Amino acid sequence: MKKIWIVGSLGHMGQALIRLLDMMEYELYETDKDELDITDEHAVSLFMHRNRPDVVINCAGYHPSAGAAQSETDMAYKVNAVGARNLAQSAESIQAKLIQISTDDVFSSASDTPYNEFDDVNPVGLFAKSKYAGEKFVIQLMTRYVIIRSSWIYGIGKDFLNEVLEAAADPQISTMELLNNDRAVPTSAAELARVVKFFIDNDHYGIYHAVCSGGSCTRLEFAKEILRLAGKEDRLTVTVKDGTPEKYSVLDNMMLRLTGIEEPSGWRETLASYMKETGGLE
Ligand SMILES: NC(=O)c1ccc[n+]([C@@H]2O[C@H](COP(=O)([O-])OP(=O)(O)OC[C@H]3O[C@@H](n4cnc5c(N)ncnc54)[C@H](OP(=O)(O)O)[C@@H]3O)[C@@H](O)[C@H]2O)c1
Repeated sequence: MKKIWIVGSLGHMGQALIRLLDMMEYELYETDKDELDITDEHAVSLFMHRNRPDVVINCAGYHPSAGAAQSETDMAYKVNAVGARNLAQSAESIQAKLIQISTDDVFSSASDTPYNEFDDVNPVGLFAKSKYAGEKFVIQLMTRYVIIRSSWIYGIGKDFLNEVLEAAADPQISTMELLNNDRAVPTSAAELARVVKFFIDNDHYGIYHAVCSGGSCTRLEFAKEILRLAGKEDRLTVTVKDGTPEKYSVLDNMMLRLTGIEEPSGWRETLASYMKETGGLE
C-alpha cells in the first residue's frame, strides 16, 4: 500500500484529499500545525524518517494580512518558503515524491491571456513572494516533485464562499464592498484533489497549473454567482470599492492538456453542484 503524508490536513485541500483517497488503497498520515509544524526542521525530518511516506503532499500555507507587520512577514516566509524547504530536503533524503500546492499569485503582470507554465512569473506582495520562494526550494532540492498552482480554492473550511453566504444570512448587512476585484478561476478543492490523486498514482513531474475549466471571472462575478445559486441575490448587494484595479491571474492548464491529464470540470457547474450538496457552508 502506498504511504501518503498529507501536510496541512485540516485545510480545504487536506480535507478534500482525505475524503477522496480510499483508506483501503492508501495508508494515510495526516498532520496539521498542532501535530507537526513544518517550520520545525528537526520534527519534519524525524516524522519523515520514522514513517517513510512514498508521497508527501504539502497543503500547508500561511496567508498574511494586507499591510502585514514584520512578524507576519517572517511567518509567511517561515511557513511558505522554509516549511516547503524542510519538507523538500527531508523527502529527497528518503527518495519520496513531493506534491507542493502553489498559487496563481506568482503571476501579476498586466495580461488578458491566461498564464501557462512557460510564462515568466512576477510575484508581487508577501504571499506571492513567499510561495514562489517555496517553489524554488522544491525545484532546487528535489528530484521527484510536482508543483501544482491553483486559484480561489473553496471547500471544507473558511473561504470567500462562506464570507458571502454569511453576509447574506446576516439581517444587519445589506451590502458587501469588495476591496479587490481580481480576475481568476474559482476552483473546488474536491476537483483539485482529483488532479493531485493523478500525480500520486502516476510518475509525471514538474510544474502544472490546475484550475477549473470554463473561463474565468472577477471576484464580483464570483460573489454574484454564489448569491444566485443560493437564491439570495435580492438579500445582499455586492459592490467593488471605487478605483479598485483588477489584478489578472488566470491560469491556463496547458501542461495538463499537453500531458493528456484530465482537467478539473467547469467552475460554474462545479460550484453549482457543491452549493447543491452542501449549501456552500461546510
Ligand atoms: N485557498 C486558496 O484560494 C489558495 C489558492 C492558491 C493556492 N493555495 C495554496 O494551496 C495550499 C492549500 O490551500 P488551502 O486552501 O487548503 O489552505 P488552508 O485551507 O489555509 O489550509 C492550510 C493548512 O495549513 C496549516 N498550516 C499553517 N501553518 C502550518 C505549519 N507551520 N505547519 C503545518 N501546517 C500549517 C493551516 O493551519 P491553520 O489554519 O491553523 O493556520 C491549515 O490547516 C496552501 O499552500 C495555499 O497557500 C490556496
